Amino acid sequence: MVVAVDGYSSTGKSTVAKLVAKKLGLMYIDTGAMYRAVTYFALKSNLFNGEKVDEVRLKELLPNVTVSFMAEPSTGKNLTCLNGECVENEIRGMEVSNRVSIIAAIGFVRQFLVEQQQAMGRVGNVIMDGRDIGTVVFPDAQVKFFMTASPQVRAKRRYDELIAKGDSVTYEEVEKNVLTRDYIDTHREVSPLVQADDAIVVDNGNMSIEENVELMVNYIKERSNGN
Ligand code: DC
Repeated sequence: MVVAVDGYSSTGKSTVAKLVAKKLGLMYIDTGAMYRAVTYFALKSNLFNGEKVDEVRLKELLPNVTVSFMAEPSTGKNLTCLNGECVENEIRGMEVSNRVSIIAAIGFVRQFLVEQQQAMGRVGNVIMDGRDIGTVVFPDAQVKFFMTASPQVRAKRRYDELIAKGDSVTYEEVEKNVLTRDYIDTHREVSPLVQADDAIVVDNGNMSIEENVELMVNYIKERSNGN
């Protein structure tokens, strides 16, 4: 079974998908982490010049890039690896976050990662979160969710997270960043974020994480029973 979880940034896709995976014994795959790992690779290989990336060189080097996941022995947390080396912390930093949408808009990078995601999905029962899972990676997925919430709700969540981490940001800055990312994700030429026709829309603006997980678990169980 493949469960596709797409939607806007800061809708809690990964938090909820991980919990659903645990409850139902599915393998969780974070496809955003794969785009982040390639971005980190491009940074480490000095392929960025400001906002521009050397696409010719990236295309040459990409066949040598392996992105994989490993469970941390003590916590079971999923860690992202680049050519066998754990880069989980590096890919979550601002340097990567500020450039990942540039890498995610390159057609040959998407093709390279989509093939790997499709191979992972063929191996077993997976829940995969991203932007194009139900539309491009697995258009025939048995269950598709599209997660959304108002930009203000999402900006407030992100703002609270950053403040809790000790970052000094204003709510206005964060809201602007959320709106910019929405615009880039929905307007890029290759595989823009769109809702699949057969996706279940989950607006979790007024939902707790537990309610959100329960709704999805129940729906997946119904579908796997053939309803
Ligand atoms: O989910 P995230 O914020 O970690 O994703 C990082 C970036 O990668 C974000 O700009 C959207 C992009 N992305 C994508 O284009 N397609 C996917 N399947 C997953 C993420």
